[in-house]
Amino acid sequence: MKISNNFISRNSISFTSYKRVNPKTNLSVSTSFYHDYPALQKAVDIIEKDFPNGTDILIYAGSNGEEAISVDSMLNHPERYHISSIDPFKEAIDFAKRSCFGIHKLDDDSFIIDTIQKDTTPEQLRLKSRFYNSFEEIQKPEKALNNVNSGSLYDISFPGLEMQKYFKLKPEVKNRIQFIQGDIRNINSFPVKSQNGKAGAVFFRNAIYHLTQNDLTGVFKYGDKPNININKYAVIKNLIDNVYNKLDIGGIFVMGHHTQEHFFIADKYTPPEQSVLIDKQRGIRLTTAPLPIKALLENGKFEPVFEEAITDLSGLKKINLPTIWKKIK
Ligand SMILES: C[S@@+](CC[C@H](N)C(=O)[O-])C[C@H]1O[C@@H](n2cnc3c(N)ncnc32)[C@H](O)[C@@H]1O
Repeated sequence: MKISNNFISRNSISFTSYKRVNPKTNLSVSTSFYHDYPALQKAVDIIEKDFPNGTDILIYAGSNGEEAISVDSMLNHPERYHISSIDPFKEAIDFAKRSCFGIHKLDDDSFIIDTIQKDTTPEQLRLKSRFYNSFEEIQKPEKALNNVNSGSLYDISFPGLEMQKYFKLKPEVKNRIQFIQGDIRNINSFPVKSQNGKAGAVFFRNAIYHLTQNDLTGVFKYGDKPNININKYAVIKNLIDNVYNKLDIGGIFVMGHHTQEHFFIADKYTPPEQSVLIDKQRGIRLTTAPLPIKALLENGKFEPVFEEAITDLSGLKKINLPTIWKKIK
């Protein structure tokens, strides 16, 4: 999948590396601070209410650490929790450990550096002050952060207008978060701190499409041939079963809000009556049921606790779908 600058800016990149796709998978590893913050806030509220004395928070698909750092900053008592930011992409983990970040005026998290307050919502203002509690602003580092990609719109600058600011994570925050290279498929053996070996929260946001190769952008935008040999439902069910086994009762599973996390290209295992044909010429079908939701509802072990408006495949309509689920038994 090729990524255009346009795509990058729409998909909230502030992954501070010039390789914004994993070269092995060609899939996006991008993220931003407070990405989809209503969902993050809801997750944090539930964790603090249900696990007031602390718990493990496993942030898989943690990319370069911005999601875990955002969660840490939103907690009222972060010192009570063990946050792990886990991602298989080594470059992202190395970046997280370096803990220097650039924020650009054209990124989704630009509200953090905005000086004109009128466009900033009260919620963003609150998050901004949380951000500044966790970071100190630094001069442009000598060793490039590389999020200003040469030849891209990130290079645009105007005389007298600062387009980018740089920040270093405060040591006490860095010491609270573990940045670890790892794969959610090995979640069972992840060493959590709690005695019963269970976690209060597992995040895996905007990455189910990595496991299932459900790259809708590739299919719809660039005309790639989708892989229909992966049994997507089986992969998702296995993921949900593993997450279930790792969670404490009352613990939450937090999913992402991107379209391709919820709507799937039908594979050769999908019964025709459970799919719709959307591209006659290429024979591309889509599953009619959002597969993660089907897997989460199976056996009545999870219940939805937070819904979000997700853009459907037409790109024109929004559908309310649950993105936070609680383990109830
Ligand atoms: C699009 S980014 C999403 C980042 C962040 N969670 C967000 O929503 O902004 C997808 C991330 O999932 C990671 N990923 C892919 N496969 C994974 C796996 N099996 N286990 C854990 N993370 C994985 C990728 O390396 C990448 O950093």
